[in-house]
Amino acid sequence: MFAKEFKTTVSQKPVMIGIDSKHDNIIFAIESSCDETAAAIVKNGREVLSNVVASQIKTHIEFGGVVPEVAAREHLEAINLVISQAFEQAGLKGSDITAFAATVGPGLVGSLLVGMNAGKTLALAYDKPFIGVNHLNAHVCANYLNTDLKPPFVALLISGGHTQIIQVKDYFEQNIIGETIDDAIGEAYDKVARLIGLPYPGGVNLDKLAKTGNPFAFKLPEAKLANEYDFSFSGLKTASLQLIQKLKKESDNLPIADIAASFQENVSSVLFRKTKKAAESINAKTIVLAGGVAANSEIRRKFFNLKDEGYNIYAPEMKYCTDNAAMIASCAYFLAGTMDSISVEVFSRM
Ligand code: KG4
Ligand code: ZN
Repeated sequence: MFAKEFKTTVSQKPVMIGIDSKHDNIIFAIESSCDETAAAIVKNGREVLSNVVASQIKTHIEFGGVVPEVAAREHLEAINLVISQAFEQAGLKGSDITAFAATVGPGLVGSLLVGMNAGKTLALAYDKPFIGVNHLNAHVCANYLNTDLKPPFVALLISGGHTQIIQVKDYFEQNIIGETIDDAIGEAYDKVARLIGLPYPGGVNLDKLAKTGNPFAFKLPEAKLANEYDFSFSGLKTASLQLIQKLKKESDNLPIADIAASFQENVSSVLFRKTKKAAESINAKTIVLAGGVAANSEIRRKFFNLKDEGYNIYAPEMKYCTDNAAMIASCAYFLAGTMDSISVEVFSRM
C-alpha cells in the first residue's frame, strides 16, 4: 500500500494520503531548512500548481555564507508573504488543500522551526492533516515533478550536506550503495570557490567560471576507498589549497578559471564513474540526479550523454534542483506511508 491514513488536526477525521488514496491529493508544502524560504502547492505529487521561493542570497553574500541566526530571522520575515503567494499563484484557498506539509530535517534547527510551525499552524487553522517531510528524500522526489518517473532507479544525491548513491527499489524502499566519508560535494564546491576568491554561493559561480578554463590544466587527486562506491573530498580540498598556494608563489596571476575547470573535471568524473558502475552492478538502466549540485552543467552533461548507451537519465529542472517546496509536497505524497504527523519535531542531522 502506498497510502497512509492521517487525521485532521482538530476534528480528527481520517484522510488517506499517497498514491493509492483514490482521490486527488492537493498538498501545500513549506521548505525552510537552510537559506531559501519556500512554499508550493502540488497535485498528486507531480503537477506543480504553484511554486514560490524567497532566496536569502543577498543577505548571506555579506557574511560569505549562511549564519544560522540570521537565516532564521530572514525566514520569519519572508514566510507569510511566501505562503500567501503560493495560494494566490494556484488560485486556491486553505479549504481546498488536502494536507499541509513542511520540512522537519535535516537542516538548521532555528530555520526548520519557522517552516514547520507555520505548516502546523495552517493545518490547525484549516483542520487538515500535517505531514513532516525529510529534506533528503524530497530532493530525490523532485524528479517526479512534471515527469512520469517511476522506481526502480539509482539516484545520485548531491547537495550542500550530502553525497549518496541510492538504490531506490520502490517509492518507500531504498538502500544506500555509497556515500561520502567526510565532506559533501556541495561543501567541497563552496570551499574551493572561496579559495579562488569567488563570492557566495560558491558552487554555481565555480560552475560558470569552469566553463572558461582548461579542465586538464591541473591533475588533482582522487581518494582510494574501501567501498568503491563511497566518496571522500577532504583530500581533494587540501590538494586544491596546496596547488593554489604553490601557484600564488610562482605568479601574481592565479589561473582561477583553469583551477575551477580542473576541480570540476575531477569531481564530475568521480561522481559519474562511480554512479555508472553502481547502476551496472545492479542492472539499473535509469539514473536520476538530485540535490543542489545536480544543477551543475558538467555533471548534467556527463550523465545525459549516457542516453546514447540506452540509459534513462532524469535530473530536476534547475529550479527544482536547489531547495524548493514543490519537492517537499511531492515527497509528502509519494512517501506518505513513511511520514510522521502533527507530533513530529525538527531534527538537525540524520
Ligand atoms: O540542495 P541544496 O540547495 O541545499 C542542501 O540541501 O544542501 O544544495 C546547495 C549546494 C551548495 O553547496 C551549492 O553551492 C551547490 O548546491 N550548487 C552547485 C550548483 N548550484 C548549486 N554546485 C555546483 N554547481 C552548480 N551549478
Ligand atoms: Zn537541499
